[in-house]
Amino acid sequence: MTTATRIPLIAGNWKMYKTPREARQVLEQLTAGLPKNLPGPVVVAAPFVALPAALAATEGSPLELAAQNMFWADEGAYTGEIAPGMLTDLGVKWVLVGHSERRQLFKETDQDVNHKVKAALAHGLKPILCLGETLDERESGRTFEVLGRQFELGLEGLPPEALANLVLAYEPVWAIGTGRTATPAQAQEAHAFLRGEAAKMENTLAKSLQIVYGGSVKPDNAAALMGEPDLDGALVGGASLAADSFLSLIKAGLTAKGFGV
Ligand code: PGA
Repeated sequence: MTTATRIPLIAGNWKMYKTPREARQVLEQLTAGLPKNLPGPVVVAAPFVALPAALAATEGSPLELAAQNMFWADEGAYTGEIAPGMLTDLGVKWVLVGHSERRQLFKETDQDVNHKVKAALAHGLKPILCLGETLDERESGRTFEVLGRQFELGLEGLPPEALANLVLAYEPVWAIGTGRTATPAQAQEAHAFLRGEAAKMENTLAKSLQIVYGGSVKPDNAAALMGEPDLDGALVGGASLAADSFLSLIKAGLTAKGFGV
């Protein structure tokens, strides 16, 4: 499938790292070091409390901010939660939904994920819907079954046009934070499968859907992964925490996609 219509997307996921002050410092370094001819935005998912400082530090730059999670209700008695409108009011444009750490550690279900995707879209936030199998699921031959279920339930009830406003992140759980990356071929196979699922909803939009890979992406493996036709970018945890490694990863990945930066 041609990649010509798809702009690569590289996003950092800082998880529970970085105070507002630390976020500002790294973002200033990133802004200063980013190539001038980027094909699209670079996204950073910062902790909630770092978002205001992060937005101020990235104003006028190609960096855009994501939240790492949110609740789906507009407002209400949900102590400790953050509503979509609170994020858009700040100027946040993106939100990670269904990251495997949310699913595993905080018991988010496919139904929770579905509510969050719907709420994000209703508020004009672009969801990065994360899906991926565990090691056990892969070893027992259930990868596609799991991906298919997460895709279907995550997008349940949404019209096909929703595909134009979201990004998928394939993140095999066994590759996250482990240093064990999926091989380019394993990742490509999963991405092609997901694009096929999307094509069942709407063929043209499936072709332009960005599907990024996450799980131990580093500066030295980004090019091989992003060289695969259905890998449209990366969701990067550990290697996004320091400006120098994130910048080299961005340059390697975009160059592999044919964007000389
Ligand atoms: P990692 O994390 O790059 O540190 O493996 C990826 C992610 O959790 O999104």
